[in-house]
Amino acid sequence: MPVVVLVGTQWGDEGKGKITDVLAARADVVARYQGGNNAGHTVVVGDTEYKLHLVPSGILYEDKVCVIGNGVVIDPQVLCQEIQYLRDGGINTSNLHISDKAHLIMPYHRALDQLEEESRSQRIGTTGRGIGPAYVDKYQRVGIRVNDLRSRESLAEALDKVLPDKNRILQKIYNHPGFEKDEILDEYLGYAEQIVPLMTDTSLLIDEARQKGQNILCEGAQGTLLDIDHGTYPFVTSSNPTAGGAAAGLGMGPNRIDQVVGVVKAYCTRVGEGPFPTELMDETGNLIRERGREYGTTTGRPRRCGWFDAVMLRYSVRVNGLTGLALTLLDVLDVLDTVKVCTAYEYKGERLEHFPTDTAVLRECRPIYTELPGWKQDLSGIKSFHELPKKAREYLAFLSEQVGCPIQIVSVGPRRDQTMLVNSVF
Ligand code: GDP
Ligand code: IMO
Ligand code: MG
Repeated sequence: MPVVVLVGTQWGDEGKGKITDVLAARADVVARYQGGNNAGHTVVVGDTEYKLHLVPSGILYEDKVCVIGNGVVIDPQVLCQEIQYLRDGGINTSNLHISDKAHLIMPYHRALDQLEEESRSQRIGTTGRGIGPAYVDKYQRVGIRVNDLRSRESLAEALDKVLPDKNRILQKIYNHPGFEKDEILDEYLGYAEQIVPLMTDTSLLIDEARQKGQNILCEGAQGTLLDIDHGTYPFVTSSNPTAGGAAAGLGMGPNRIDQVVGVVKAYCTRVGEGPFPTELMDETGNLIRERGREYGTTTGRPRRCGWFDAVMLRYSVRVNGLTGLALTLLDVLDVLDTVKVCTAYEYKGERLEHFPTDTAVLRECRPIYTELPGWKQDLSGIKSFHELPKKAREYLAFLSEQVGCPIQIVSVGPRRDQTMLVNSVF
C-alpha cells in the first residue's frame, strides 16, 4: 500500500502532470498538497491536451479519487472554471474532494500580487495569481478557508476580520479603489454552491484509503528550487513543493511516505527571475525552447532553457529524500551533436560540489561541464529502455551516477505511451 510523493526537482514544469497521469493508472487516490493555480500541469490523453491548474492530474481517469489538500491555496473562480472545463470535455469530476482547511485566494490577493510585483525594485516574476499574498494571510492567521464558505454569515465574519485592512493597504499604498464586501460575498457564495458539497476532511479520507491498502499518489506542484525554504530565495514561490510539504499539506504522517519520485527534465528550464547557472543564451537554448515547446502553461511566458545541472539535482535528492527519478523530455535533445552536464560549479576560483545555500553565491557560480556525445536519433517512438540508443543510455547512466539516484521512468514524448517504466513505482 505505497504512498508515493511525486516532486519537481528543478524550477517547475518538469512534466509532473504527465508522470502523475501515467502513475495514476495504478493509484487509487491522487492528491495535490501545495501551491495553487500558479501551477500548470499538462496531460495528453489520446489526441486531447488538458491543462490543469488546481485539479489533480488523476482526474482524467473515471475512477480515481482526487484530493485538493489543506496545503493548497484555492482560487474558487479558477476551480469552478476548471471543473466546468473538465465536465464539458466529458470528464467525471464527482470523485473530487477538497479539504475544508485549504485557504482561499481572494480578489485582494490577486490585486496585491500584481501591485506588489510592479512596485518591487527587483521583480520575482510571479504568476500574478495571488499565491504569495494568500499564503501571507494564512500565516498571518487572517486567511479565509474553504470551511468559511459554509454560509453567508461565516464568510461575512471572516471577511470583516481582514477586508478593512486590505482596503486600507490597497487605497493608501497603491491608490487602488479596494473591494466591496457585498460584492465579494455574492461572488464567493456563487462558487460555494459548487465547492461546499466537495468539502471534506481529506486527511481522514487519505488515511482511510491507506488503511484499506490503496495506493496514494501525492502530486507536487512547482519544484524544489522554487521551495520557500530550500529554493533560490527570494526568487521562489510561497509554499513547500519539496517532499516534506506533502505530509503537512495533506495531514499525513511523514512515516507514511514509502517513495519519493523526482521528476526531472533531461535539461533545465526556469520561468521568472532568479539565478540559473546553466542557462543558455544562445542558439542551443533557442533550439531546446522550440523543440520542447518551452512556453509557460499558466502565463505563456517563454521559459529560460539550459543544460542539466547535476549539482542542483544532488541537492534535490538530498532535500526530498528522492528514491527514484522520472526523467522527461529526453527526446528534445535528439538532434544535438553533443550534450553537456554541469557536474560542479566554479566560484571565485574554487570548485563547489554542493549547491550553495546563498542565492548571491549561486549568481556568481560558473558551471563546470562534462560533454557527452549526442545520440542523433528520434526517440519519440521508442517503447522500452533497452531499445534506446547506446549513447542515450550512456547519457542517462551518467546523470544517474552524478546525481546519486536511480532512474525509474524515462519519458520521450507528451503522450502516455511515450513512457518507459524502468522499475514500476506501485
Ligand atoms: P508540469 O508543470 O511539471 O506538469 O509540466 P508542464 O505541463 O508545465 O510542462 C511540461 C511540458 O512538456 C508539457 O507541454 C508536456 O506535455 C510536455 N512533456 C512532458 N513529458 C514530455 C516528454 O517526455 N517529451 C516531450 N517532448 N514533451 C513532454
Ligand atoms: P508547475 O506546477 C514553473 C514561478 C513563477 C515565479 C515564482 C513565484 O507548473 O511546475 P508565484 O506566482 O508562485 O508567486 O511565482 O515561481 N512558478 C512556476 N514556475 N512552474 C510552476 O508550476 C510555477 N509556479 C510558480 O514563474 O518565478
Ligand atoms: Mg507547469
